[in-house]
Amino acid sequence: MSSAPRNDRKPVTLTKLHEMRALGEPIVMVTAYDHPSAVVVEQAGVDVVLVGDSAANNVLGYEDTVPVTVEELLMLAAAVRRGLKTPLLVGDLPFGSYEASDAQAIGTAHRFVKEAGCEAVKLEGGGAMADRARAIVRAGVPVMGHVGLTPQTATALGGYRAQGRTAERARRVLEDALALQEAGCFAIVFEAIPADVTDVIMEHMEVPVIGIGAGASTDGQVLVLHDLLGIHDGFKPKFVKRYANVKAEMLRGVEAYVDDVRTRAFPAAEHSYGIAPEELERLRAQLPPHRSVV
Ligand code: KIV
Repeated sequence: MSSAPRNDRKPVTLTKLHEMRALGEPIVMVTAYDHPSAVVVEQAGVDVVLVGDSAANNVLGYEDTVPVTVEELLMLAAAVRRGLKTPLLVGDLPFGSYEASDAQAIGTAHRFVKEAGCEAVKLEGGGAMADRARAIVRAGVPVMGHVGLTPQTATALGGYRAQGRTAERARRVLEDALALQEAGCFAIVFEAIPADVTDVIMEHMEVPVIGIGAGASTDGQVLVLHDLLGIHDGFKPKFVKRYANVKAEMLRGVEAYVDDVRTRAFPAAEHSYGIAPEELERLRAQLPPHRSVV
């Protein structure tokens, strides 16, 4: 696999995503929460970057996505923005920042655009959130929907489990997706839905659908960067494929550093600055003779 930069591309627009869908070109989306990750995903040629509320558990140490605040995500999104040129940048609206009213949803969406430089926002929930999505779109901010397993309301869904596993529930997922599409969402994330159900729903979709644990028939795929790189070794959902084991490599490096410091193997001469011998001599001449402590 080549590690040459793949960033000789034009910025990804909403039109480009619709063209990719029409041409059957898979859309690649991934999360990022900081500047170094943004630089990597930019170079790797990703199409869409999501500053997900999954930052809550992946980098901020919360148990789940519920507690993360708008301010926390804005800071992370601004850092990601500074590392990106090409992919479309989507900011996730955190739980409690958009549900109460259209005015609240529009206000939060505008902050992600104005303060963090996001080009779009994502919100969770189907039909019940269609009015919020519509209001944000009308206020000039593109919206990505998210149906199926919606982690912000996982408790109400019976936990972190696949959705749409009966005909009635699958029908509900379809209705949620259609409501968001009708509300003007430019794309929709399908999370943890049986592949066969996705196949059926895809027949009714006219906007790009990005899947995570939703089978292969969606227009694109999204994974959490920390899951695909193995940056942590906690719970791994069934839909995650690990492409690296970064935690093991980080641990190896930090352990080696600890050993080197303790054994005085680090720093070596090549890690130290020099001074001309005559300057050192002059310094010594300026100082009183060394007195040892009695
Ligand atoms: O926050 C997140 O990481 C997400 C993805 C799973 C789509 O919403």
